[in-house]
Amino acid sequence: MGEWLEGRTLAEKIKEEIGKEVAYYREKIKKVPKLVGILVGDDPASKIYLSTKAKNCERLGISSEIFYLPENTSFNELAKKINKLNKDDEVDGILVQLPLPSHLDTFEVICAISPEKDVDGFHPHNLGKILHNEEGLRACTPLGIIELLKSNNIPLEGTRVVVIGRSLIVGKPLAAMLTNENATVTICHSKTRNLSEVASEADILIVAIGKPAFVTSNFVKEGAVVVDVGVNRVSDRNKIKELFGDNKEKEEQFEKKGYIIIGDVHPEVINKASYLTPVPGGVGPLTVAMLLKNTLKAFKKRNNLE
Ligand code: GUN
Repeated sequence: MGEWLEGRTLAEKIKEEIGKEVAYYREKIKKVPKLVGILVGDDPASKIYLSTKAKNCERLGISSEIFYLPENTSFNELAKKINKLNKDDEVDGILVQLPLPSHLDTFEVICAISPEKDVDGFHPHNLGKILHNEEGLRACTPLGIIELLKSNNIPLEGTRVVVIGRSLIVGKPLAAMLTNENATVTICHSKTRNLSEVASEADILIVAIGKPAFVTSNFVKEGAVVVDVGVNRVSDRNKIKELFGDNKEKEEQFEKKGYIIIGDVHPEVINKASYLTPVPGGVGPLTVAMLLKNTLKAFKKRNNLE
């Protein structure tokens, strides 16, 4: 049986360091970083994500503000708001929560954010910097995954990594960042043939597809490291029972909320992997920590502090 590769403790340690640095700048230059989040529409999960980010800012002494814009906001209205924040010298980081309502073009919206304030690392300028292997603002979830692997002394150089999922948020930037770490990377997606066969060649298997418990033991090489990036709400009691058996903790969570959060990886994989990240409590807390780290980084760069 493998070990759970937990992310909470590491995330807390990183946040503690960020908090100390923020306090130092508050004292030294009487300024703190500021992060602004924008939510268009009222998707409940996005609301929770954004408020978690804001609460974490508050805890570390980072200033934050969230703008809630109506679902029918036009591109021009949103671009005007972003432009104002781009010009606001007090603002160091701007993030537009994704997904956006379907009438808005995600690429156009991301391009409206000034690259120096793009703390999500989604602007083509920052994504391009990964390919050049140049310093820049990197996407938070990939950064968090690499940090988690490194801090547990899991080697990347020369290893075979398979990433399932080719999203802008995780799969694509992560694959390029792992290539920079000298890993041999394969990206798989919905059109990949013999997916389980390809996956089972991986020393490190990373799954970010948004399909609950999709990856089962037959995808996994004995002793592989498995990173589960999925965050799926499951409200089917039978499905929960099928996955976890008679599990009191999951039952209680279900009773309380009417759903439970599960990853893209089937819990049985713990029996075959050397490490598996739990959901929740694996990659998620590190994504938030990396967003705060990017906000501090943008603040330091904008104030010539490094
Ligand atoms: N939606 C899901 N993950 C993310 C993220 O990391 N950043 C933004 N802006 N939206 C998201």
